[in-house]
Amino acid sequence: MKVLAILYVGGEHAEEEPRLLGTVENALGIGSWLKEQGHEFVVVSDKEGPQSDFQKHIVDTDILITTPFHPGYATREIIEKAPKLKACITAGVGSDHIDLAAANEKKILVAEVTGSNVVSVAEHVLMTILLLVRNYTPAHEQIISGGWNVAQVAKNTFDLEGKVVGTLGAGRIGYRVLERLVPFDCAELLYYDYQPLPKEAEAKVGAKRVEDLKEFLGKLDVLTINAPLHEGTKGLINKEKLGWMKKGAWIVNTARGAICNAQDVADAVNSGQIRGYGGDVWPQQPAPEDAPWRKMQYKGDQTKGGNGMTPHVSGTSIDAQIRYANGTKDILKRFFAGEAQEDANIIAIDGAMFSRAYGQKK
Ligand code: NAI
Repeated sequence: MKVLAILYVGGEHAEEEPRLLGTVENALGIGSWLKEQGHEFVVVSDKEGPQSDFQKHIVDTDILITTPFHPGYATREIIEKAPKLKACITAGVGSDHIDLAAANEKKILVAEVTGSNVVSVAEHVLMTILLLVRNYTPAHEQIISGGWNVAQVAKNTFDLEGKVVGTLGAGRIGYRVLERLVPFDCAELLYYDYQPLPKEAEAKVGAKRVEDLKEFLGKLDVLTINAPLHEGTKGLINKEKLGWMKKGAWIVNTARGAICNAQDVADAVNSGQIRGYGGDVWPQQPAPEDAPWRKMQYKGDQTKGGNGMTPHVSGTSIDAQIRYANGTKDILKRFFAGEAQEDANIIAIDGAMFSRAYGQKK
């Protein structure tokens, strides 16, 4: 079979660190294994536009491997160009870059390595909540630039203790975030999800479910977004919803950039409606140089407060890369052997949705 992987170029970094498995160079560590079994393995990075390597190779590909970090968008048009395509595997978590309706029409298996990087993301969420609430970045930048002005940074520094924190989406990542928040003695831990947590799980972290989105957003000092991108979440956090939030609340989004309206968020941070926004996911990746989230700052503060953005890195720590590379190999092994996939890894199969995380569809 022809297996096509869309990965990012690692260059010297991939040479220095062979465990950078999500790169073109290290290719998930599966290159020789696939070739030994007689499969063709093509790895490319160039993914945008009709002349891209992705579009050139997709026409006779049997299995497509992509990652959310450098997403090869398997649009309806691409899927229609690929008559042999049988499986789309996400090396990581989040298959929103695959047109799931188009994949289902062609009975293409959509699978991901569920759970592979959920701890990595939850840790990044906690870090970003803390760095925004405690105004870490401007304070650190003073040190690097030779400055010392406690008042300038302290005027925008708070404690997480006593704040109301809520997660939109309380699945694997959202729940791990709640677990990690427990020792911070927040005033309340809340969640909004159409799938309620089991009662014991709620009790373990002391979290309460709020069923109305307006009520939920209105209660929060900190919102963390941990739901997949689908038609029910695309553009969900826009000007109207930002207006439902308390003035001066913080938002951390490591789920998908397109869940938020980028310009509305930047305007809310720049105007001071939102005290800070952070995360690692962008509506377009790589993010263009003029993306509004690169330069937004709380009230235009010269110390660059309120911006906790990084490139898409939270779910691709070295530990996570090892797990999602191994998981991808396991999905491939089962596929070649005609064995059942692990239920948790299946997003869509036999022409229908299998996961309930993409908008209550079954
Ligand atoms: P999960 O499937 O365990 O949990 C997702 C939860 O979101 C489910 O409980 C689902 O019911 C809920 N949900 C779906 N639509 C919702 C809506 N409209 N409102 C409220 N809740 C909703 O998924 P997991 O592992 O927690 O991952 C969540 C997302 O995080 C992924 O889909 C992916 O987009 C993102 N992610 C980002 C990574 C990164 O590197 N930044 C790495 C891994 C995941």
